[in-house]
Amino acid sequence: MRALLVAGNWKLNGSQASINTLVADINAGLDSLHQTTVALVCTPCVYIPLVQTLTQNSTLKLGAQNVSKYEVGAYTGEVSALMLKEFGCDYVIVGHSERRALFGESDEICAQKFVMAQQGGLIPIFCVGETLAEREANQTELVIRRQLQALLDKIDVQDLVNSVLAYEPRWAIGTGKAATPEQAQAVHAYMREMIASLNKSVAEQLQILYGGSVTGSNAAELFAMPDIDGGLIGGAALNADKFLTICRAGNKA
Ligand code: PGA
Repeated sequence: MRALLVAGNWKLNGSQASINTLVADINAGLDSLHQTTVALVCTPCVYIPLVQTLTQNSTLKLGAQNVSKYEVGAYTGEVSALMLKEFGCDYVIVGHSERRALFGESDEICAQKFVMAQQGGLIPIFCVGETLAEREANQTELVIRRQLQALLDKIDVQDLVNSVLAYEPRWAIGTGKAATPEQAQAVHAYMREMIASLNKSVAEQLQILYGGSVTGSNAAELFAMPDIDGGLIGGAALNADKFLTICRAGNKA
């Protein structure tokens, strides 16, 4: 049985004061989670040392939202995987659709970042997903395959064991319009089959998260699907009660 991962992506939100409260409130509720559920928060970069301190005696995991494709050197504004690791990050989101759409990150760049994250000892959460126009043109599988293939061109399929994939349909992100459990399951199964055609055992171990308007109301039915192993949560992750409700929805193991 694959463990469940619930990852909060705080995006460009928060302050020292709000984060102190949010993490304290999440910490206080972690005892109510199933023992195989892992809760993770991916914070804005500058708050990583703060959240590292706040999670020192907690099972809450810490992650970043982005990482440089470079290791070291003259790259103004970049933050490396080793720097993130040094401040207690275990995970990093790679290729979120906002990075792809708003910051020009190509399939190739996302794949490079995945490699760099793993080299620095981080577990990349590699995001893929189609736009509404692509879904309506019946291109969902084509797009997912292209995005995953760009990654598989750069890595050994075995490397996926130390990674997480996330299916995030762009039309569902921040819109309040989540994919139905059946829609999400169909794409998750497609992704797992694509990996299984290369290596069955890797495909069986691989955690695949769903992201896009996950809430306390729809999380349980999404997480109950056989190929959905947790969620990547945006808006609802900024509220401790909502985030913990989603984490508790994962008591399927
Ligand atoms: P949302 O964001 O939960 O606010 O839709 C999900 C995401 O961007 O990962």
